[in-house]
Amino acid sequence: MKNINVFDTTLRDGEQTPGVNLNFEEKLQIAKQLERLGVDIIEAGFPAASKGDLRSVKEIADTVKNSSVTGLSRALTSDIDACWEALKGGAEPRIHVFLATSPIHREHKLHMTQAQVIETAVNAVRYAKERFAKVQFSAEDACRTELPFLAEVVEAVIDAGADVVNLPDTVGFIMPEEIRSMFRYIKNEVPNADKAVLSAHCHDDLGMATANSLAAVEGGAEQVECTINAVGERAGNASLEEIAVALHIRNDFYGKSTNITLNEIKRTSSLVSSLMGMQVPNNKAVVGDNAFAHESGIHQDGVLKETSTYEIITPELVGVEANRMVLGKLSGRHAFKEKIISLGYNATEEEINKVFKSFKELADKKKEITDEDIFALMADEKAGD
Ligand code: KIV
Ligand code: ZN
Repeated sequence: MKNINVFDTTLRDGEQTPGVNLNFEEKLQIAKQLERLGVDIIEAGFPAASKGDLRSVKEIADTVKNSSVTGLSRALTSDIDACWEALKGGAEPRIHVFLATSPIHREHKLHMTQAQVIETAVNAVRYAKERFAKVQFSAEDACRTELPFLAEVVEAVIDAGADVVNLPDTVGFIMPEEIRSMFRYIKNEVPNADKAVLSAHCHDDLGMATANSLAAVEGGAEQVECTINAVGERAGNASLEEIAVALHIRNDFYGKSTNITLNEIKRTSSLVSSLMGMQVPNNKAVVGDNAFAHESGIHQDGVLKETSTYEIITPELVGVEANRMVLGKLSGRHAFKEKIISLGYNATEEEINKVFKSFKELADKKKEITDEDIFALMADEKAGD
């Protein structure tokens, strides 16, 4: 089975989340957990951005041994030097150099022609390759770049020594069918494409980041770039947990695997959420509080009989202790009875029927029925005997 490399950028793109600022110890703690999670490459920061970033990237590179550590760099020798300073102590120093390629960025941001973009990218990759064991080049805003020009850039940077070429959807604009075709086009049209790993890096501005990352894999991407809890610039990045679990559960469809230790997912999500001060939405796929909660009577009855009726992944798979039956007005007798038993009551069927009636009356007035409510209902029932 072909492996997909997982490149985690929680500590770089994820730290670009408005309002998030991790300190040195917090970054190190997250990096160690990402290593435990089985991430292949950890993007630890942007060393040229600040002395603090350089220091934390260096500390992470010197500490983490089972994941490769990288740092971001613009296509400038000064940035590449800062990355080298931070990463030279690592077992296999790896750099991530980027330069925008799209017409919008060329015209309004870089003021460069196509030829200047290629020359700058090639010079940066060559300079980096003289120092680093592994060089990744990202064509920023690749998904809004003219395809023939993108192909020229990819061919030139691979010739210059790039080991990985990343084609980011920087502004979350592309659709799954398009990104699949874009990767296929690059794989088929670039003569030296098989000499580098192609990587996808998707943003979530239209809610497509996971779907686009998976479509890129179908198109030939062998590396996906993502963050824990989908944190990141604007609407965020592709979610590591969603991609890893989708590739695992739909192995029948993708036929690809990752090195992610899936039962470390929940722990990693909780750590990142608490250190970043970013609450995970309750309905977030895989790691949200409601991801394994069931409220309607029909669903509860199904899950109590056989979990696979309404759960496509088991909670244990991703490190969640158990599923949860939420008692509310839509709940049925089956889940209610299980709750009574789990709270230690030895009630007769007749008692359960009576309390279930009172429970339904209460549930009509209250969104969620708590254990305390059940204790009170049972006490009323006993008192009425
Ligand atoms: O979204 C993007 O294009 C990036 C690059 C720096 C890879 O984060
Ligand atoms: Zn990004």
